[in-house]
Amino acid sequence: MSDTQTTSAKTTSPVSTGGAPSAPNMIAVASGKGGVGKTFFSVTLTHALAKAGKKVLLFDGDLGLANVDVQLGLMPKRDLNDVIRGRLSLEKVVQHYEDGGFDIIAGRSGQASLSALPSQRLAFLRDQLVELASRYDAVVIDLGAGVDRTVRMLSAAAARTLLVTTDEPTSLTDAYAFIKLGNAAGMSKKVSVVVNMAGSAAEGEKTYKTLLKACENFLRLSPPLAGMIRHDPRVKDTIRHQTPLLTRSPNTDAAEDAEKVAAYALKVIAAAKKRAG
Ligand SMILES: Nc1ncnc2c1ncn2[C@@H]1O[C@H](COP(=O)(O)OP(=O)(O)OP(=O)(O)O)[C@@H](O)[C@H]1O
Ligand SMILES: [Mg+2]
Repeated sequence: MSDTQTTSAKTTSPVSTGGAPSAPNMIAVASGKGGVGKTFFSVTLTHALAKAGKKVLLFDGDLGLANVDVQLGLMPKRDLNDVIRGRLSLEKVVQHYEDGGFDIIAGRSGQASLSALPSQRLAFLRDQLVELASRYDAVVIDLGAGVDRTVRMLSAAAARTLLVTTDEPTSLTDAYAFIKLGNAAGMSKKVSVVVNMAGSAAEGEKTYKTLLKACENFLRLSPPLAGMIRHDPRVKDTIRHQTPLLTRSPNTDAAEDAEKVAAYALKVIAAAKKRAG
């Protein structure tokens, strides 16, 4: 992987994140390239945290292309669009997802206006989310692919961004671009890597090492590995049935792996809380 292969990640001008509000219990899930399993991973991570006895909120932060509700087969009556239009406060659109034992704030599919929100409205939304986070043990944010303004702002508000990649060269290159651009926006120390769809633990490790080497050589950064999720045919099956993996196939490889990443997330949150005092 070379440093010149980084043009494909979506970018806009950087936004200053210095001094912006953040919550020590917020975990953002991002990726350079789309379709690498962010939404599946966000749902499963949230579910694993809930199963560990935590009070958890899953926020669909992929403004414009919401898909948490689709993967779970929900038909939300209220969603982020109501908040953005000023009709409801953020807490009023929280819905409890009984099957998983966690709360959800749904986005709205195909609502282009959400992704083109003016900075001020986006900052207001982030502020409401940070405030709401104080009522939970953990908040998981499913972000859109790339490093656009929404992603940078919500990532910066989180204690940690879990950057999802697969072993595909395009995914790895875009993950590297995410780290590079995120570094320029001041979030380098808050990114950990999740290798998804790994053929095996050893292959996942190899994929991580490839990314790590590029980051160390060209950026002098060493993003830690949060964990890996093995490729698992049960994932497709669970999405097709719009039922969470930990309900449908709780003992399968990908479920086991997601539970390990949940343990990592809890450690990160505990450390961030300690730092925040
Ligand atoms: N560990 C896995 N094993 C097998 N298949 C997987 C795994 N993770 C994800 N997938 C497959 O990848 C597809 C894409 O997943 P998902 O929609 O969660 O990606 P995404 O990153 O959220 O996409 P987008 O960028 O479009 O929001 C899923 O439909 C699923 O079939
Ligand atoms: Mg998604």
